[in-house]
Amino acid sequence: MTERSYREDPLTPGEREEFETDLISLCDRELDLLGDLRGIDVLYAGGSSPLWIEGLSQRVGEDGSVTALDLDEERVEAAREGLEEADLASPTRLVAGDVFGMPFPSGTFDLVYSAGLFHELDVGQRTAREALAALCSVTRSGGRVATSDFVDSQPAVQIEDERLQADLAREVSGGEPYGIGPAERLVGLHEAVLAGVRWRLSPPLPVRHLDKLVVAEGEPEELSSLPSGLAEVFRERLYTLRERIRREGYSRPATLYVEGVRGD
Ligand SMILES: C[S@@+](CC[C@H](N)C(=O)[O-])C[C@H]1O[C@@H](n2cnc3c(N)ncnc32)[C@H](O)[C@@H]1O
Repeated sequence: MTERSYREDPLTPGEREEFETDLISLCDRELDLLGDLRGIDVLYAGGSSPLWIEGLSQRVGEDGSVTALDLDEERVEAAREGLEEADLASPTRLVAGDVFGMPFPSGTFDLVYSAGLFHELDVGQRTAREALAALCSVTRSGGRVATSDFVDSQPAVQIEDERLQADLAREVSGGEPYGIGPAERLVGLHEAVLAGVRWRLSPPLPVRHLDKLVVAEGEPEELSSLPSGLAEVFRERLYTLRERIRREGYSRPATLYVEGVRGD
């Protein structure tokens, strides 16, 4: 995770600048995989980071549009404020909603794209295949669906961190995140729903000073809603992991980009 809340900035202004430079490089690397986006209507599904929305908007330009859909109303509201300062080149709108209940008519977009959605997707009641089919349903016939997400092709401290957060979510809300798994799982998922599937595995891109932000975080609020014994088990895991991050830094997972075409 790259966006976390913290009370005071644990980074010096110089570190903050380096951190943001690396986030921009990561975003550019991923968005460049989408190729030429000029003049098309894009749905950014399961995300609301102003950086990514601005990047899409600049690539699309004034003849296209960008719509961002995120389940988390607070993130959508924060993004709305963040985008007031952004350099948007296209009509852009933010929508709070669920990919499992797409609030758009079938065939609305030329490209439906997600970055980091699938590992957080709750697949307790619905499946990842249903989510991908939902992205496909709002894509025009012949249009593209593209997703990028972390995979576990090499060990990374962030994978441990995401696992801990997924276990916590499971205990607190009964959610069942899809999680970070092998590249083949995501490629197979896309091949089951889309035509002409292509994919690319990108090596981890370090984000300088992310380790400092992670170890400076407070305890997750959810811990307070657990029975004290269980909260203690999670606290122990959390502090052991943060100690490891202090020693080793915060290694990041590789990223898999997959795209395919809506065939019907
Ligand atoms: C790791 S974050 C994505 C980061 C992304 N790069 C961005 O721009 O925000 C995963 C996002 O997926 C959203 N999400 C999870 N399940 C969703 C669903 N069923 N429908 C829509 N958004 C969902 C979460 O609210 C969260 O903002």
